[in-house]
Amino acid sequence: MTYKTETGPQGFPTYYDVRNIRISPNVVLAPMEGVTDVIFRRVIRSIGGPGLTYTEFIASRGIVHNERRSWDMASFDPDERPISLQIYGNNPEWMAEAAKQLQDEGATILDINMGCPAKKICKKSGGSALMKDPELATEIVRAVRKAIDIPLTVKMRSGFDASMRNAPELCKIFESEGVEGLTIHWRTREDLYGGERAVDKIAEAVDSVSIPVIANGDIIDVESAKRMFEDTGCAGVMLGRGAIRDPWSMLHIAQWLRGEPLTEVTLEERLRVLIMYYDRIEEHFQQLDQHRRTLGRIKMMIRNFADPLPHGKILRQKVCRAQTLPDAKDITKRFFDTLIEYDQGKEGAFVDDGWITPKAS
Ligand SMILES: Cc1cc2nc3c(=O)[nH]c(=O)nc-3n(C[C@H](O)[C@H](O)[C@H](O)COP(=O)(O)O)c2cc1C
Repeated sequence: MTYKTETGPQGFPTYYDVRNIRISPNVVLAPMEGVTDVIFRRVIRSIGGPGLTYTEFIASRGIVHNERRSWDMASFDPDERPISLQIYGNNPEWMAEAAKQLQDEGATILDINMGCPAKKICKKSGGSALMKDPELATEIVRAVRKAIDIPLTVKMRSGFDASMRNAPELCKIFESEGVEGLTIHWRTREDLYGGERAVDKIAEAVDSVSIPVIANGDIIDVESAKRMFEDTGCAGVMLGRGAIRDPWSMLHIAQWLRGEPLTEVTLEERLRVLIMYYDRIEEHFQQLDQHRRTLGRIKMMIRNFADPLPHGKILRQKVCRAQTLPDAKDITKRFFDTLIEYDQGKEGAFVDDGWITPKAS
């Protein structure tokens, strides 16, 4: 291991350096297309927790051809530091050109996506399909490395399928090509989002390279983060769906790593943050003249957010059926108000239409 890191009170690292960029805490927000746009990241950062944020994956072709959607995806706040901009594609020249342009926009780190399982991306040999074409993958890494001066990282899966779990071999090649950090999601492309937990290839990669390896896949809380550090010896952890499910999860993991007490999160605080997200996302899409996307985005997000809440299914179902944003807001407020009353010891009851309503006192 040649990168800088330090072990904290739990016996696990509390930060790592990618070249001279300190990632502290070593808890990272995953790139998620359609979720981790600048607004979601702003809300998460206001809570605290991630030592690094990523943009959603950006089509290198879109940057090179100056497409608005790609440039929108590349936007970040001036104080969002460090920020990793992630690109995908299968054309080394476009990848290099896009990387150069994004470096000029002020990216701290440039990340190449080799993990996306989507058919439309894999069909064109992008995303995780690159893992079964090591030559093309290496050509892309080499071209991008040559085009930029900022640190370059790669995010991948453990392999393409069960017969090709080649992440450790690729990590070694990429390190020799000048890649300075790696993220590995333990699933293969074939696993999509299922499969049985197998983190052995992350551990093997950690042993094979001298640059930081970040572990990813199903980390949702302190317990699952601890297990990942124990099982792999990773430099840090990355959270995707866990961060939508519980936006405080990254803060809690960071606090635990530092040996600090965990912040308690009240229902009132959860409601405040959720409504803040609704408002900001509405504002954002209005500015882009795409206000019809607001409700769709909220419905996508609420699926995960509602999951750990008591009676969360009701919130999810009702918000997903909302026809307007004010409807979604009213439903959300009513849901939380009722939960808060429960919390304060007032009796509640389920009524016929599936709502939870406090009993008349
Ligand atoms: C809705 C969604 C969108 C995603 N988009 C991206 C992406 O743009 N780039 C990427 O590298 N991974 C993407 N991923 C994969 C995540 O970054 C992460 O590797 C995966 O969800 C596993 O981590 P988790 O179990 O913590 O969610 C996406 C995942 C989800 C659920």
